[in-house]
Amino acid sequence: PRVALVFGGRSSEHAISVSTAGSVLRAIDRDKYDVLPIGITHEGRWALTSDEPARMAITDGRLPDVAHVAEAVDGQVTLPVSPGSREVLLSEPESAPKALGEVDVVFPLLHGPWGEDGTLQGLLELSGVPYVGNGVLASAAGMDKEFAKRILASHGLGVGHYTVVRPREWETEQGRAAVRERVAELGLPVFVKPCRAGSSIGITKVRDLAELDAAIEEARRHDPKLIIEAGVSGREIECGVLEFEDGPRASVPAEVLVGEGFDFYDFEAKYIDSSEVRIPAELTDAEVAEIRRQAVAAFEAFGCEGLARVDFFLLEDGSWMINEINTMPGFTPISAYPKMWEASGISYAELIDRLLQSALR
Ligand code: DAL
Ligand code: MG
Repeated sequence: PRVALVFGGRSSEHAISVSTAGSVLRAIDRDKYDVLPIGITHEGRWALTSDEPARMAITDGRLPDVAHVAEAVDGQVTLPVSPGSREVLLSEPESAPKALGEVDVVFPLLHGPWGEDGTLQGLLELSGVPYVGNGVLASAAGMDKEFAKRILASHGLGVGHYTVVRPREWETEQGRAAVRERVAELGLPVFVKPCRAGSSIGITKVRDLAELDAAIEEARRHDPKLIIEAGVSGREIECGVLEFEDGPRASVPAEVLVGEGFDFYDFEAKYIDSSEVRIPAELTDAEVAEIRRQAVAAFEAFGCEGLARVDFFLLEDGSWMINEINTMPGFTPISAYPKMWEASGISYAELIDRLLQSALR
């Protein structure tokens, strides 16, 4: 089968997506799959890229970029929007589109808005092209931390205390005062987050109300809608879910051990300093059974397809809280999702194969 690997993108997680694609390119069975690598630049232009994973890694803290691997950044790959056609076209400015042939399946390895949020999935639905992973609704709901919490809570799954700052609210003095009041009620510390983003980009831990406004301005650079969450103390545990022929199954869980000197699992701690991920997490059998049950319940609650990674906090009183669901989890060399499946007996290559095969079915 011919696979279009689509990566990069307009979101702030661009570099992570490039690294994810590099790892998938390394693992995918080239004898079985013919790969068409398509990068999306920060500006949203689609380009054919090199399929050499070495140039797509995070090396010495340097972040990879589609612009560095694109073979024709000026060209523009246009996925079809006419039902029934799977043809991929490369249109160079001021010239006729160049046909790149048909693809059987698209693997949208994109994180964040315009890729993990249902927008690309909608384009592919319109085109009738099979694609890996979650559909429009699960992607959109998983991306928006407010709606994600509402769905989780309505299914009896634990979520923390939070307040949402809507785009217009921060624009009036009255609105800002109301936000500060709600934050004071939540209690400090709080985490100020862009409502629709990932990889901890734009997130600030606020310990003092005097730091709140700056944290909000920072998060608003990424999304006009914010979520402010009460800080919790507990262990950070992640669990992968993968759809098999007979339904979703949960992986062995992992524990995030944030590197020394970081006070939460921020972008640097995640990808630059490489915090440690302990697999399997040291949990009792009962705890493992419970997290797996909840991870599958979250997958079902969103109507997920293919895959998801569910991130939990195990609180000091022994209860579980879901921090978020990732509908296209990272596949970078340090990402937990493929490692959790490896520890569960499914190799990286088999994982990719299963995802592609389920999209092709
Ligand atoms: N948002 C990043 C890629 C993750 O969840 O792994
Ligand atoms: Mg995330």
